[in-house]
Amino acid sequence: MLVVGISQCYTFQVESSLGFIGKTDMEHSEIAPMMGRLWSPLAAVTSHWQGKDNVQMAVAIAAASIVPDRPRVVVQLYKTNLSHAMVLSAGAFALNFLRPEQLDLIGDFGLVSGRDEDKLDGVGKTTGKFGSPLLTDCFGYMDCRVINAMDAGDMTCFLADVIDGQTLSEGEPLWWRDARRKLPSEWLERWENKQSAEIATSRSTMDQISHIPWQ
Ligand SMILES: Cc1cc2nc3c(=O)[nH]c(=O)nc-3n(C[C@H](O)[C@H](O)[C@H](O)COP(=O)(O)O)c2cc1C
Repeated sequence: MLVVGISQCYTFQVESSLGFIGKTDMEHSEIAPMMGRLWSPLAAVTSHWQGKDNVQMAVAIAAASIVPDRPRVVVQLYKTNLSHAMVLSAGAFALNFLRPEQLDLIGDFGLVSGRDEDKLDGVGKTTGKFGSPLLTDCFGYMDCRVINAMDAGDMTCFLADVIDGQTLSEGEPLWWRDARRKLPSEWLERWENKQSAEIATSRSTMDQISHIPWQ
């Protein structure tokens, strides 16, 4: 076992180039303000597979190309979500960023699963090039096709080409750090409960990473 990093704040060790184990002395509160600022604007991630449309919320999204006419994104989807299975099978999804006043959609799309209800019933939408629903009422959308994926144990990081898109509003989209200050307390409680259960699941699966390349 090789010690690869030591500082005043933390020490970490690796077992091999593929395995990361053990952390000691890390001051998590020192990291949290930076981690919290990495979350993206809120997006409704839509997908379509075998005749079914679905949507979930996501904030783990980043730009992944510096070439203006070849836009790419990386999106992290948790394996416990129905959307994960649908995006993996379809090889496509769309990102529909919310406007600041669309707080309600966080609960509608992010606190219940498409396994339990049709979350897009009555929601205005058109269809993207690979079948993903595109919301007609949002800050803007990006229609995406998956070109690679990396397993992360509890979730998958999907790299995708943005094949179409439109910005429908001016100003800023809705950011999670602003939205969470405005959510009703009942929703925040539901969010915290759901999150605690998901953190427990992630803690037990995040080291079970498959290194087999995505096809
Ligand atoms: C504010 C917020 C942010 C979220 N961010 C993500 C995310 O980045 N990735 C993810 O996979 N799930 C994220 N979720 C959780 C999913 O949206 C949620 O588990 C959803 O119910 C999954 O729906 P599905 O089972 O229909 O796919 C987020 C939820 C909320 C409320």
